[in-house]
Amino acid sequence: MAIRGHGHLLSARYLLLQFTDSANGKAYLAELEPLITTATERKPDVARQLAFTYSGLQFLQLPERTLGSFSREFREGMTEAHRQFILGDFGEHSPDNWDWGNNPSEIHLLLMLFAEGEEDLQQLVDQELTRASAYGVKHQVSLPTAMLHDQKEHFGFRDDISRPIISELVKDKELGTTPTFPAGEFIMGYKNLYDEYAPSPLVEETQQGAEVLSGHPDLPGLVDLGRNGTYLVFRQLKQEVFLFWEYLKSQSSSMEDSIALASKMVGRWPDGSPLVLCPFKNDPSLAQANNFGYWDEDRDGMKCPIGAHIRRTNPRDHLVTETSKKDSTEMVAKHLMLRKGRPYGNPVSKGMVLNEILAAEDDGEDRGLHFICMVTDIRRQFEFVQNNWVNFHKFGGSEEDADPLIGNHYQEGSVVTDRFSIPRYPVRRRLENLPNFVQVRGGGYFFFPGKKALQFISKYHED
Ligand code: HEM
Repeated sequence: MAIRGHGHLLSARYLLLQFTDSANGKAYLAELEPLITTATERKPDVARQLAFTYSGLQFLQLPERTLGSFSREFREGMTEAHRQFILGDFGEHSPDNWDWGNNPSEIHLLLMLFAEGEEDLQQLVDQELTRASAYGVKHQVSLPTAMLHDQKEHFGFRDDISRPIISELVKDKELGTTPTFPAGEFIMGYKNLYDEYAPSPLVEETQQGAEVLSGHPDLPGLVDLGRNGTYLVFRQLKQEVFLFWEYLKSQSSSMEDSIALASKMVGRWPDGSPLVLCPFKNDPSLAQANNFGYWDEDRDGMKCPIGAHIRRTNPRDHLVTETSKKDSTEMVAKHLMLRKGRPYGNPVSKGMVLNEILAAEDDGEDRGLHFICMVTDIRRQFEFVQNNWVNFHKFGGSEEDADPLIGNHYQEGSVVTDRFSIPRYPVRRRLENLPNFVQVRGGGYFFFPGKKALQFISKYHED
């Protein structure tokens, strides 16, 4: 299964590669396949994982019917006009301004390399680039990563706290009230929330090489190329850390106020404690708290604004368009994602100390988040969230707001969403003229194959 993020391997690099010859490309994959790390390997010293773009699979000449069985979003790619519209990638976010991914045919493969330290990583990268070049596989882009102190992202907030728990993987029966979700929401080959096998790419069982793949339980004559794989959504998001804190300072009278206001935008305090559980002050004992809702605690958003980043991206039991806690919980469950990204670039403060971040001068360096999420349905999960919750100006009854942290507030031909409403008694507070704090610099949709699928892809050739 594709579910490990290799958190113990602190160094990682993502390489974007392009095949130049289909037969050589497959020979390369056949050599690499035994080295690909599987989820069953506990704490390896180094890890390699790979994922394909649709143009990569086309280049390898997979059977036409198999290519056609991938989802429309994956086949079209992130920069196709309709997808661009759904994602709100206009203006500053437009693929025309990206550093990579704007020409999907140039990127066929994402090779993700992980090691314990930078030296080991460099060795691994050199080794893999030598291997690739021996098969004529072109190195297009190299994306460095940098884990920040204390599990933080560059603005200074703890990240990677909330993550859907997969029912099939829960051994601990003590989980009690913690909600769990079926594997098929995140990994192909398993049942999803609709009690159906997640939509998956398929191969005819008579196809040469298909014997390594498992039969599809519901579709006789077809084998499942997706099993134990998933779709991987990748967005390189540049973070304007100085702009973020300058803006907050301009809206508040003290450093404490700036931090409180920024926390309203995120929905958690910098240490991770959720505003809905401790609205007035952070509580370190709640830094990893994730079993909470909004319906009973905070329907009006007085504690955690309805438009805060974590409340837009996962409204939990209180989606304002739903009329009950149960309906909301069920609706929201269909739009979750397994996040696996890593930050990149030097932190403004090595120890991620907020006083230092707030006091620092703009150094003009490029830093941000390689946002990665895994989903079995790109449209229903990632794109839905981005379209209906992150960028939608009427989300939660607002009129001109979008996600204050990651929203694209200035899209030509669309409503300007440069406001952030903070419910407050007796009158709400409204921030105005929000700049974009995040900019998309690249991205793509990838297919992350299970081991057997990779064997099939590397060995398949037309009769
Ligand atoms: C540079 C860009 C981003 C930054 C700095 C950022 C930051 C954060 C932070 C600090 C948290 C709270 C920690 C946690 O709950 O795990 C969070 C949660 C989350 N973010 Fe982001 N994020 C970014 C981009 C995105 C994008 C593009 C999406 C998806 C469209 C997204 C979806 C989520 C989700 C689903 C959660 C968990 C919410 C919950 O379950 O309560 N984030 N993010």
